[in-house]
Amino acid sequence: MAFTADHSERCRRDFPALQRDLVFLDGPGGVQVPTTVIQAVADFYETCNVNTHGNFAPSREVDRRMQIARETLAAFLGAAGPECISFGQNMTTLNFALSAAIGRTLQEGDEVLITQLDHEANRGPWLRLQERGAVIQEVKLKESGELDLADMAAKVTRRTKVFAIGASSNALGTVNDLALARRLTRAVDALLVVDAVHYAPHFPIDVSAMDADFLLCSGYKFYGPHVGVLYSKPGALDRLPTDRLSVQDPAAPYRIETGTLNHAAIDGMRAAVDYLASWGTGGTLRERIVDAMNGISAYEHRLAQVYHDEVRRLPGVRVWGPDFTSRVRAPTVSITLDGHTAGEAATALGALGVCVWDGNFYAARAVDVLGLAARGGLLRTGISMYTTQRDIGRLLEGLETLA
Ligand SMILES: Cc1ncc(COP(=O)(O)O)c(C=O)c1O
Repeated sequence: MAFTADHSERCRRDFPALQRDLVFLDGPGGVQVPTTVIQAVADFYETCNVNTHGNFAPSREVDRRMQIARETLAAFLGAAGPECISFGQNMTTLNFALSAAIGRTLQEGDEVLITQLDHEANRGPWLRLQERGAVIQEVKLKESGELDLADMAAKVTRRTKVFAIGASSNALGTVNDLALARRLTRAVDALLVVDAVHYAPHFPIDVSAMDADFLLCSGYKFYGPHVGVLYSKPGALDRLPTDRLSVQDPAAPYRIETGTLNHAAIDGMRAAVDYLASWGTGGTLRERIVDAMNGISAYEHRLAQVYHDEVRRLPGVRVWGPDFTSRVRAPTVSITLDGHTAGEAATALGALGVCVWDGNFYAARAVDVLGLAARGGLLRTGISMYTTQRDIGRLLEGLETLA
């Protein structure tokens, strides 16, 4: 089913925050939530705000909802089943837990490959493994905003045990070649860990086709509350020496979940996936999700392309990252402006009610490598399912006053 400008207008009615006179173009930092998500969270607190695994009705209800949430997120990611889905506070916290566990399996001199393009959340946890004697290699970023694939191929060697790579850059909108990353890592029997935080709101995900060993994403980027999600390939988590209590269930997916989870938020994230699926057609939840995400993806791409075409014509504006000739490009467009730092531009736009982010968005290494750190980084526009041509118009008007 196509997702059209009309659908986008209609979906805006579902988001209470969008009824204010503000233009939210800050999606890569987190999106607004629809009423159904707010209701799911409220309903949890109203009806079953108790802990799991009790022998009484509200607790059984929490168990049921957590199971449905795992099944729903499995459908969202194309995973084999609910046992592949672990929850945590956010992506960063889960990735620290994952890298620490994988780190315990490494020998002195084993290599972990990260990239210059990635968010620090998929670099910092791996860089910490240097303390245990691991050697960290980095795939180079090119000025075009793409990873250097020859460098990638050269740096996946028999010493490589893990390759941690983003599916898409939250700073430049680049979509990385995960098929190549998988081919290279498979040849040397290395783990492939994918950060899909920026990718998940914009494209359907199929972890089985991608064949990732682990994949992480974050609910608040796809219209849900703040919850991290870790997908583990069947069997992959069961082998890992995770930090956990002796009283904890050692099986996947619980093996990496410490303490009491944010059950209300997890139920809200389940509602967010159901909301997305409601924009698709098909006989199964998975089919509706894939259909909806394909439609939303095409809509967002077209709108981002319009913005990209217009903004690069403004005097003194430079657009960073790949252009829109390929469909494989996230709808996130970052620019620099002559005569203004990104912070100054964001402040001026903020005063007009246009919400955009400036800085490095924790993709600090990429911004450094591109030589943009001293200039205050980038001014980033994120397109979401609820972004309209009108929003882009207001952004461009604001930018024109600066140019
Ligand atoms: C690409 C990417 N990876 C990881 C993260 C970290 O996610 P979380 O806030 O859930 O820790 C972000 C957050 O902005 C991100 O954009």
